[in-house]
Amino acid sequence: MTPYDQLFENNRRWVAAKRVNDDGYFERLAESQQPAYFYIGCADSRVPANEIMGLEPGEVFVHRNVANLINNTDLNAMACIEYAVRSLRVRHIIVCGHYNCGGVLAAMQPRDMGILNPWLRNIRDVYRLHERELEAIPEVAQRYRRLVELNVVEQTRNVIKTAAVQQSFLAHGYPRVHGWVCELSTGLVRDLDIDFDAVLRDIKQIYDLTGHAD
Ligand code: CO
Repeated sequence: MTPYDQLFENNRRWVAAKRVNDDGYFERLAESQQPAYFYIGCADSRVPANEIMGLEPGEVFVHRNVANLINNTDLNAMACIEYAVRSLRVRHIIVCGHYNCGGVLAAMQPRDMGILNPWLRNIRDVYRLHERELEAIPEVAQRYRRLVELNVVEQTRNVIKTAAVQQSFLAHGYPRVHGWVCELSTGLVRDLDIDFDAVLRDIKQIYDLTGHAD
Protein backbone atom coordinates (compact mmCIF):
# COMPACT_ATOMS: atom_id res chain seq x y z
CA MET A 1 0.00 0.00 0.00
CA THR A 2 1.37 3.44 -0.94
CA PRO A 3 1.46 6.24 1.64
CA TYR A 4 -1.33 7.89 -0.36
CA ASP A 5 -3.53 4.78 -0.32
CA GLN A 6 -2.88 4.51 3.39
CA LEU A 7 -4.96 7.65 3.88
CA PHE A 8 -8.13 5.78 2.91
CA GLU A 9 -7.24 2.92 5.19
CA ASN A 10 -6.71 5.45 8.00
CA ASN A 11 -10.10 6.97 7.23
CA ARG A 12 -11.86 3.60 7.44
CA ARG A 13 -10.17 2.90 10.78
CA TRP A 14 -11.17 6.31 12.10
CA VAL A 15 -14.81 5.74 11.09
CA ALA A 16 -14.82 2.32 12.70
CA ALA A 17 -13.29 3.65 15.92
CA LYS A 18 -15.89 6.42 16.17
CA ARG A 19 -18.70 3.91 15.71
CA VAL A 20 -17.49 1.32 18.20
CA ASN A 21 -19.57 2.64 21.08
CA ASP A 22 -21.87 4.89 19.08
CA ASP A 23 -23.31 3.45 15.88
CA GLY A 24 -25.26 6.60 15.01
CA TYR A 25 -22.29 8.93 15.48
CA PHE A 26 -21.96 10.12 11.88
CA GLU A 27 -25.71 10.22 11.19
CA ARG A 28 -26.07 12.61 14.12
CA LEU A 29 -23.01 14.63 13.07
CA ALA A 30 -24.48 15.06 9.59
CA GLU A 31 -27.65 16.68 10.90
CA SER A 32 -26.20 19.94 12.25
CA GLN A 33 -23.25 21.72 13.85
CA GLN A 34 -23.31 23.95 16.92
CA PRO A 35 -19.66 24.65 17.68
CA ALA A 36 -19.01 27.03 20.58
CA TYR A 37 -15.61 27.98 19.19
CA PHE A 38 -14.25 29.57 16.04
CA TYR A 39 -10.50 28.94 15.63
CA ILE A 40 -8.37 31.07 13.31
CA GLY A 41 -4.89 29.62 12.95
CA CYS A 42 -1.86 29.16 10.73
CA ALA A 43 -2.00 26.66 7.87
CA ASP A 44 1.23 25.15 9.26
CA SER A 45 0.98 21.33 9.37
CA ARG A 46 2.33 21.23 12.93
CA VAL A 47 -0.60 23.05 14.52
CA PRO A 48 -3.71 20.87 14.07
CA ALA A 49 -6.62 22.88 15.44
CA ASN A 50 -8.86 20.14 16.86
CA GLU A 51 -6.02 18.11 18.29
CA ILE A 52 -4.28 20.84 20.27
CA MET A 53 -7.59 21.69 21.96
CA GLY A 54 -8.82 18.12 22.37
CA LEU A 55 -11.99 18.87 20.41
CA GLU A 56 -14.10 16.46 18.39
CA PRO A 57 -15.77 16.99 15.00
CA GLY A 58 -18.62 19.47 15.43
CA GLU A 59 -16.98 21.31 18.33
CA VAL A 60 -14.88 23.95 16.54
CA PHE A 61 -15.31 25.95 13.33
CA VAL A 62 -11.89 26.47 11.72
CA HIS A 63 -10.22 28.94 9.36
CA ARG A 64 -6.51 28.61 8.59
CA ASN A 65 -4.14 30.52 6.33
CA VAL A 66 -0.46 31.44 6.13
CA ALA A 67 0.46 33.17 9.43
CA ASN A 68 -3.13 33.39 10.76
CA LEU A 69 -3.92 36.75 9.16
CA ILE A 70 -7.27 38.54 9.13
CA ASN A 71 -7.55 41.40 6.71
CA ASN A 72 -10.71 43.11 5.64
CA THR A 73 -10.42 42.52 1.91
CA ASP A 74 -9.96 38.76 2.36
CA LEU A 75 -13.39 37.49 1.34
CA ASN A 76 -12.62 34.01 2.66
CA ALA A 77 -11.77 35.18 6.18
CA MET A 78 -14.60 37.74 6.26
CA ALA A 79 -17.13 35.10 5.15
CA CYS A 80 -15.91 32.70 7.85
CA ILE A 81 -16.30 35.37 10.55
CA GLU A 82 -19.74 36.35 9.26
CA TYR A 83 -20.97 32.76 9.24
CA ALA A 84 -19.37 31.79 12.56
CA VAL A 85 -20.77 34.82 14.38
CA ARG A 86 -24.15 35.46 12.81
CA SER A 87 -25.22 31.92 11.91
CA LEU A 88 -23.35 29.55 14.20
CA ARG A 89 -23.34 32.10 17.07
CA VAL A 90 -19.99 30.94 18.42
CA ARG A 91 -19.22 32.03 21.99
CA HIS A 92 -15.46 32.37 21.56
CA ILE A 93 -13.16 33.29 18.68
CA ILE A 94 -9.55 32.19 19.09
CA VAL A 95 -6.71 33.56 16.97
CA CYS A 96 -3.86 31.11 17.46
CA GLY A 97 -0.36 31.87 16.19
CA HIS A 98 2.72 29.76 16.75
CA TYR A 99 6.43 30.24 17.30
CA ASN A 100 8.68 29.12 14.42
CA CYS A 101 6.06 30.45 11.99
CA GLY A 102 7.55 30.43 8.49
CA GLY A 103 5.21 33.20 7.36
CA VAL A 104 6.33 35.54 10.13
CA LEU A 105 9.98 34.68 9.50
CA ALA A 106 9.58 35.34 5.76
CA ALA A 107 8.16 38.79 6.56
CA MET A 108 11.39 39.58 8.42
CA GLN A 109 13.52 38.89 5.32
CA PRO A 110 14.55 41.56 2.77
CA ARG A 111 13.42 39.41 -0.17
CA ASP A 112 10.98 39.40 -3.06
CA MET A 113 8.63 36.45 -2.51
CA GLY A 114 6.26 36.93 -5.43
CA ILE A 115 2.57 36.58 -4.62
CA LEU A 116 3.49 36.16 -0.96
CA ASN A 117 4.58 39.84 -0.93
CA PRO A 118 1.11 41.37 -0.54
CA TRP A 119 0.09 38.67 1.96
CA LEU A 120 3.18 39.05 4.14
CA ARG A 121 2.92 42.84 3.88
CA ASN A 122 0.31 42.56 6.64
CA ILE A 123 3.01 41.22 8.97
CA ARG A 124 5.44 43.94 7.94
CA ASP A 125 2.70 46.42 8.88
CA VAL A 126 2.44 44.76 12.31
CA TYR A 127 6.21 45.21 12.62
CA ARG A 128 5.95 48.89 11.72
CA LEU A 129 3.15 49.42 14.27
CA HIS A 130 5.38 47.96 16.98
CA GLU A 131 8.73 49.00 15.54
CA ARG A 132 10.01 50.72 18.68
CA GLU A 133 9.36 47.68 20.90
CA LEU A 134 10.74 45.20 18.37
CA GLU A 135 13.87 47.17 17.53
CA ALA A 136 14.66 47.39 21.25
CA ILE A 137 15.03 43.58 21.37
CA PRO A 138 18.70 42.87 20.55
CA GLU A 139 18.38 39.11 19.96
CA VAL A 140 16.85 38.33 16.54
CA ALA A 141 15.32 35.06 17.77
CA GLN A 142 13.56 36.91 20.59
CA ARG A 143 12.39 39.62 18.20
CA TYR A 144 10.95 36.89 15.97
CA ARG A 145 9.05 35.38 18.90
CA ARG A 146 7.70 38.76 19.92
CA LEU A 147 6.56 39.48 16.35
CA VAL A 148 4.63 36.18 16.37
CA GLU A 149 2.83 37.37 19.53
CA LEU A 150 2.22 40.91 18.27
CA ASN A 151 0.86 39.52 15.01
CA VAL A 152 -1.71 37.52 16.99
CA VAL A 153 -2.64 40.62 19.00
CA GLU A 154 -3.15 42.68 15.83
CA GLN A 155 -5.20 39.92 14.18
CA THR A 156 -7.52 39.74 17.20
CA ARG A 157 -7.99 43.49 16.75
CA ASN A 158 -8.85 42.92 13.09
CA VAL A 159 -11.50 40.37 14.12
CA ILE A 160 -12.97 42.87 16.58
CA LYS A 161 -13.11 45.52 13.83
CA THR A 162 -15.85 43.55 12.03
CA ALA A 163 -19.51 44.53 12.23
CA ALA A 164 -20.53 40.94 12.95
CA VAL A 165 -18.44 40.71 16.12
CA GLN A 166 -19.30 44.20 17.39
CA GLN A 167 -23.03 43.84 16.80
CA SER A 168 -23.28 40.31 18.19
CA PHE A 169 -21.37 41.27 21.34
CA LEU A 170 -23.61 44.29 21.88
CA ALA A 171 -26.77 42.20 21.46
CA HIS A 172 -25.77 38.94 23.17
CA GLY A 173 -22.52 39.44 25.12
CA TYR A 174 -20.64 37.07 22.79
CA PRO A 175 -18.38 36.20 21.07
CA ARG A 176 -15.32 37.11 23.09
CA VAL A 177 -12.04 37.16 21.15
CA HIS A 178 -8.86 35.55 22.44
CA GLY A 179 -5.24 35.45 21.30
CA TRP A 180 -3.10 32.35 21.78
CA VAL A 181 0.38 31.26 20.81
CA CYS A 182 1.44 27.63 20.40
CA GLU A 183 4.98 26.62 21.34
CA LEU A 184 5.82 23.92 18.79
CA SER A 185 8.70 22.50 20.83
CA THR A 186 6.39 21.64 23.76
CA GLY A 187 2.97 21.51 22.10
CA LEU A 188 1.60 23.84 24.75
CA VAL A 189 -0.60 26.82 23.95
CA ARG A 190 -0.43 30.02 25.94
CA ASP A 191 -3.27 32.51 26.30
CA LEU A 192 -1.92 36.02 25.66
CA ASP A 193 -4.68 37.24 28.03
CA ILE A 194 -5.90 39.97 25.74
CA ASP A 195 -8.30 42.23 27.64
CA PHE A 196 -11.23 41.85 25.26
CA ASP A 197 -13.45 44.50 26.86
CA ALA A 198 -10.66 47.08 26.84
CA VAL A 199 -9.66 46.29 23.24
CA LEU A 200 -13.30 46.45 22.10
CA ARG A 201 -13.68 49.87 23.75
CA ASP A 202 -10.47 51.04 22.12
CA ILE A 203 -11.39 49.69 18.68
CA LYS A 204 -14.82 51.31 18.80
CA GLN A 205 -13.23 54.76 19.14
CA ILE A 206 -12.59 54.59 15.41
CA TYR A 207 -14.06 51.36 14.01
CA ASP A 208 -17.52 51.39 15.61
CA LEU A 209 -19.98 49.68 13.25
CA THR A 210 -22.87 49.20 15.68
CA GLY A 211 -24.94 52.21 14.60
CA HIS A 212 -27.89 51.99 12.23
CA ALA A 213 -27.79 53.31 8.70
CA ASP A 214 -30.79 55.58 8.01
CO1 CO B 1 2.81 29.60 10.71
